[in-house]
Amino acid sequence: MRKKFIAGNWKMFTTAASAEQLANAVVKGLGSESRFTAAVCPPFPYLERVANVVRGSPVGLGAQNLYPEKEGAFTGEVSPTMLVDLGCRYVIVGHSERRHKLRESDSFINRKVQAALVAGLSVILCVGETLEEREADQTEKVLDTQVTKGLAGVSAEALQRLVLAYEPVWAIGTGRNATPDQAQQAHAFLRRRVGELCGAEAAASLIIQYGGSVKPDNAAQLLHQPDVDGALVGGASLQAEPFLAIARAAL
Ligand code: PGA
Repeated sequence: MRKKFIAGNWKMFTTAASAEQLANAVVKGLGSESRFTAAVCPPFPYLERVANVVRGSPVGLGAQNLYPEKEGAFTGEVSPTMLVDLGCRYVIVGHSERRHKLRESDSFINRKVQAALVAGLSVILCVGETLEEREADQTEKVLDTQVTKGLAGVSAEALQRLVLAYEPVWAIGTGRNATPDQAQQAHAFLRRRVGELCGAEAAASLIIQYGGSVKPDNAAQLLHQPDVDGALVGGASLQAEPFLAIARAAL
């Protein structure tokens, strides 16, 4: 049985004060709920504040990025060990905004995946096709490349600390979510592909989140698809109520 996993990606939003407030409201709203896994991913500067709020609660802490070296002369970058030090359990890697706006390659993303796993973090590896790629019937090809290259060198054992997030680029922040059928199809493909790469057992227990305009009113339908095991929520995670409503829709 895969436990649903709902994570909030706050992107480059919130202030020190509002991040703390939002984290408090999420912690309070979730109470001792343990039927699904929940996490919030604030911007780097607020990780420590939010860590102090979520400590001892069922809400996990995640970062939105990392640099794939333990330490060194990498001005402005943040290492996996620093994230662990701050209390992070998760890190988002390969988000489409970083793939497209910051030109991150699959091989760089793979280095991040490996570095995060070595440091003991759980990775949320994002994959997804652009609208052009979908319209050209290239969705599976793109997902195949991203997942094969992203997971290169990752053992079946390490895969237990990896979550995939299927995030069609055309659905992120656009208000246009994938239909439950489109999501299910992509998730089933990804699970099949991971099965070929890492073994059927690892694939069967792999959590695959859907991300892209998940809102309280479309969450239940998406989350009840057989291969959709959670959601990576952007815009709707910036307020506690919609985020909690999405999480409850997973039940
Ligand atoms: P969105 O973002 O929910 O605002 O579409 C999702 C994401 O980028 O992870």
